[in-house]
Amino acid sequence: MKKPKKQPRLPPRVVIVGFGRVGGAIALGLREAGWDVAVLPRSADSVRKAAALRVFLADHDDLRAAQLCILAVPDSAVGPAMELVEEDLGPSTALVHCSGALPLTVFSTGRTKRPVGSFHPLVAISDPKDALSGNAVALASTDRTLHGNLERMAVALGMSPLEVPETGRAAYHAGAVLSAGLLVALLDGAVSAFAEAGLNREVALKSLLPLSASALRGVQSRGLEKGLTGPVVRGDVSVVQAHLESLPPELGSLYRLLSRRALRLTPALPPETRLALERLLA
Ligand SMILES: NC(=O)c1ccc[n+]([C@@H]2O[C@H](COP(=O)([O-])OP(=O)(O)OC[C@H]3O[C@@H](n4cnc5c(N)ncnc54)[C@H](OP(=O)(O)O)[C@@H]3O)[C@@H](O)[C@H]2O)c1
Repeated sequence: MKKPKKQPRLPPRVVIVGFGRVGGAIALGLREAGWDVAVLPRSADSVRKAAALRVFLADHDDLRAAQLCILAVPDSAVGPAMELVEEDLGPSTALVHCSGALPLTVFSTGRTKRPVGSFHPLVAISDPKDALSGNAVALASTDRTLHGNLERMAVALGMSPLEVPETGRAAYHAGAVLSAGLLVALLDGAVSAFAEAGLNREVALKSLLPLSASALRGVQSRGLEKGLTGPVVRGDVSVVQAHLESLPPELGSLYRLLSRRALRLTPALPPETRLALERLLA
């Protein structure tokens, strides 16, 4: 007799509280993957946005039946949003926030006995239509079934799950911020340096963006050390000196700090060149 074929497990039902950038991106991604997902926006404007993108609005039955309730709200609203939905959720619905900074203990401020977790996409999402696929997502949870469901959700969205120990959450999130938001702040510094040279800021940004993208592509292909370019790698002391003399003090400090970091990625410099650069960058 033939062994009966195993039926594929249905994906868990999901309700997302908040239809902002992250809530919207997760909702659209899960819908695309064929998951049963509904959203609970707060303002009339967000309700309109969800309707325009043909995302289902959650009703009471959706809240009762959901296996995952994702709180895609600002960090400071995770507690209040949890209080808002707690009574309407089914008894075993898990609560999940999307913050990189908040520990899971944020849920202990309420009296919830539910499994709780976190699903933090390592993506700079500035619009609900931004793609999540191809990026990593940090998962944390208090429960094995929930963990399995969060992994399934990551895979459905085309994301690679990453485990981050709760004790290292702040350092992990600092790293994430350094690589995204603060990269934008660094780009603002680069635009200001072009402005010092007399260039228009808009023109500067347009020319610098592809340069930054090429630097990131180099790192993607060859790693941090081999992808690094610039006068520090070349041991060009006089160029570094000229740069420092041309920049206003605040940009000079930023340039020094980052060049010291670049020096750490450049082990092969002759000792006298390294010493000269270290003195200049101190
Ligand atoms: N954006 C990113 O790049 C990114 C990346 C990774 C993780 N995250 C995390 O994702 C979470 C959401 O961030 P976001 O960027 O999506 O924020 P967002 O675009 O500002 O969206 C937040 C949504 O939450 C709703 N909201 C605010 N307070 C609420 C409350 N008390 N109850 C119910 N709904 C409430 C807002 O509704 P209304 O607009 O209708 O008022 C808004 O639509 C945060 O924890 C953030 O740290 C963000």
